[in-house]
Amino acid sequence: MSELTDIIKKRRSIRKFKSDSVPKELIDKVIEAGVYAASGRGKQAPVVIAVTNTELREKIVKANSKIGGWAEDFDPFYNAPVILIVIADSQVSTAVYDGSLTLGNMMLKAHELGLGSCWIHRAKQEFESELGQEILSMIGLEGNFEGIGHLALGYPDVEVTDIPEIKENRIFYID
Ligand SMILES: Cc1cc2nc3c(=O)[nH]c(=O)nc-3n(C[C@H](O)[C@H](O)[C@H](O)COP(=O)(O)O)c2cc1C
Repeated sequence: MSELTDIIKKRRSIRKFKSDSVPKELIDKVIEAGVYAASGRGKQAPVVIAVTNTELREKIVKANSKIGGWAEDFDPFYNAPVILIVIADSQVSTAVYDGSLTLGNMMLKAHELGLGSCWIHRAKQEFESELGQEILSMIGLEGNFEGIGHLALGYPDVEVTDIPEIKENRIFYID
């Protein structure tokens, strides 16, 4: 199996993280893989925001949990020390596809680096709320951005090695 195929097959969503912080060099490498993803018409619509600030993290956790309808004390980011938020210029028609590819690249890179990650949803609703505006003003970004998704990122506190069965009728060839 090639190294890339191995990474693709063995990456799993991680939902239990160590509290250890992730060195910035590693966060940078994960983000780098994301921003090099293909994008519709090469417009590079997605933007990645790395959140390690505990105060903001708490606000995101609360907002996400509320949108998801969970109890106040539930952390939908599974206590991951890093939250990577992907947003994309909503004027770009491929924003959601571009942002999803960014997230996909980052999940694979995280796995390659021995980090764990999990796509956490509900970024769309978050960025439609005041919190989204607050985050944009914190980084001085102006414009209309759609929340695409987050990655919970950190060192896994669980060993997951299973490769899932692939459902039938998902691959066809027309020769
Ligand atoms: C669009 C999308 C949204 C997801 N949202 C969440 C989420 O909010 N919380 C979560 O724990 N996992 C979420 N996941 C992770 C999936 O549950 C996970 O990818 C799926 O169960 C397959 O497992 P695997 O990633 O280990 O292959 C999401 C995945 C995708 C692609």
